[in-house]
Amino acid sequence: MERERIVFIGGGNMARSLIGGLVAGGWPAERIGVTDPTPDQRERLASRFGVTTSEDNRAAVADADVVVLAVKPQLMEQVCQDLAPALAGRQPLIVSIAAGVRMEAIARWLSYDGPIVRCMPNTPSLVQAGITALFPNDRVSGDQRSTAESILRAGGSVIWVDDEKLMDTVTGISGSGPAYFFRIMEAMEEAAVARGLPREQARLLVIETAFGAARMALESEDDPGTLRQNVTSKGGTTAAALDTFEAGGLADLVDRAVGAAAERAAELGDQLGGK
Ligand SMILES: NC(=O)c1ccc[n+]([C@@H]2O[C@H](COP(=O)([O-])OP(=O)(O)OC[C@H]3O[C@@H](n4cnc5c(N)ncnc54)[C@H](OP(=O)(O)O)[C@@H]3O)[C@@H](O)[C@H]2O)c1
Repeated sequence: MERERIVFIGGGNMARSLIGGLVAGGWPAERIGVTDPTPDQRERLASRFGVTTSEDNRAAVADADVVVLAVKPQLMEQVCQDLAPALAGRQPLIVSIAAGVRMEAIARWLSYDGPIVRCMPNTPSLVQAGITALFPNDRVSGDQRSTAESILRAGGSVIWVDDEKLMDTVTGISGSGPAYFFRIMEAMEEAAVARGLPREQARLLVIETAFGAARMALESEDDPGTLRQNVTSKGGTTAAALDTFEAGGLADLVDRAVGAAAERAAELGDQLGGK
């Protein structure tokens, strides 16, 4: 079967990363189109990946099986309303990667009752190590779910959620989560430097430790709690550090931080929804 024709609306960082992953994974470049207002951006994408580029959103989607909306959330209303006439009478799969923009708003702005998948990728997708949560409307077929998965897998792993409200929690975990780990890395680096390690060595120790822990957690059959217990001997160094975290209320602090992010995501969803 011939691969679906995918058109990305917006050829910025996220589109470039997904296109790179798709082409590297064997998706034919001639079945991928991208629109972007900036000539340099179009030129870069065309020469690097061999994809078709254009500045005309409406014309670009005319023969698309899948339309990936990859513009900034604040531009979604205007871009969708402009695209609406080109979708009249057609039912391509719409995939939105715009953070925080709800399914209902996308459908309303596009005047569209066809299949839509709303996605929440995260920044590590830019280095093919991301994770994306997907939420389908009830018009999305099984084949279209597979297609949406193939596109977002170009940036890393994928999960499906079956309640759109969970997208706010996803935002508080994987969406904002990379910054939580960066913050912990910063604090560990400072603690190391304060105790005499050169900054470069401190940074490498911290980053490799974070990477190693994540890789062990991914590859092991044990959950993170068990992995933690396995490396914590009674009265040892790790126990001394973890006791300090507990005394400082780490679990409660993390819970409140995730809650604050999820709450903010819901507020932004209201604002972006244009209602
Ligand atoms: N980057 C991330 O880590 C990340 C994570 C999660 C979700 N996302 C979502 O992914 C989407 C894209 O993010 P990004 O980081 O790739 O942003 P970006 O680099 O700014 O890419 C957006 C692109 O869309 C172009 N554009 C602007 N108006 C357009 C129009 N009318 N038609 C077609 N293209 C247009 C922009 O061109 P100009 O630059 O010339 O305006 C830009 O090249 C956003 O909705 C964001 O919420 C991104």
